[in-house]
Amino acid sequence: MASENIYILGIESSCDDTAASVLVNGKILSNVIASQKIHEEYGGVVPELASRAHQQNIVPVIHQALKKANITKEQLHAVAFTKGPGLMGSLLVGTSFAKSLAYGLNIPLIDVNHMQGHILAHFIDEEGFEKPPFPFLAMTISGGHTQIVRVDNHFDMTVIGETIDDAVGEAFDKSGKILGLGYPAGPEIDKRAKLGNPKAFKFTKPKVDGLNFSFSGFKTAVLYFIQREVKENPNFIEEHLNDICASIQHTIIGILIDKLKLASKETGIKHIAIGGGVSANSGIRQALKDGEQKFGWTTYVPKFEFTTDNAAMIAIVGYLKYLESDFAKQDVVASARLKI
Ligand code: KG4
Ligand code: ZN
Repeated sequence: MASENIYILGIESSCDDTAASVLVNGKILSNVIASQKIHEEYGGVVPELASRAHQQNIVPVIHQALKKANITKEQLHAVAFTKGPGLMGSLLVGTSFAKSLAYGLNIPLIDVNHMQGHILAHFIDEEGFEKPPFPFLAMTISGGHTQIVRVDNHFDMTVIGETIDDAVGEAFDKSGKILGLGYPAGPEIDKRAKLGNPKAFKFTKPKVDGLNFSFSGFKTAVLYFIQREVKENPNFIEEHLNDICASIQHTIIGILIDKLKLASKETGIKHIAIGGGVSANSGIRQALKDGEQKFGWTTYVPKFEFTTDNAAMIAIVGYLKYLESDFAKQDVVASARLKI
């Protein structure tokens, strides 16, 4: 029946957020996230604690997602879940739950690649947000990944560049750690950068050929710079924190934009989308907008709530796969290093 409403439940548990979302025909009915605060005191995600917290959160989060969507589980057409990449102990919780739920309800089970989720979040039906036309370039920037992907169709994606060491989110978080900021430091660096001078301090950009990235040298450059300055002036960090944050952010954004320019030039594609936690950054959002004027790009920036990990992006991939009857079998397994 063409007019039938298709309800998809999405479940995300790849890292430290337990999330569930219900979509109807690609439109959001609910999008629930339980973020795990426990990791803040350790300055990073502790896999064993993340897995345990997912086990505690998953039932109430899914329950709430169904309740907010005002549907019963019997109305669902399919259950979509994150198969990978991510932390194995975390992925297993969502995977096992999704399998049991789909089996119990006798409806299709759909496995989703988390990174495709970050890209296809642009296809969630949202007022005021245009969907990018094919082909487009997607830059996925998060705490675990940094990639430039050529997207020729929903499921025809090619990674044309990626980091050879740290992810860009780690560059933010590790720099923040050096400055004594809490975890994750990205949002605070962003906030402070708005109050500082981006040209106050200079950090050299890493030289990596082609479309690949490297951020481990950048983190070391920040460390040496801070050590040197603090030796001269023990109050250097607190006296210049906003300027340091602005300069760090400015350098990172410069690295990302340089590679996007090259990717656009090499492929001839001018439709450019971003996704992942770091796409919440106000500086990168502005730099993309500026790219429209400077380079003739048309850019696509996700709604703020779809930047960091969420289950709506998993549910939209589920919906697109549902339309193609692309279902998983009950013996599907989680995959920590799943590739696009
Ligand atoms: O996509 P995400 O929620 O989880 C992963 O899949 O990794 O991304 C988390 C990353 C963290 O490194 C965090 O510091 C960064 O996204 N982040 C930001 C901002 N908001 C989150 N980085 C810079 N500016 C922000 N506003
Ligand atoms: Zn993510």
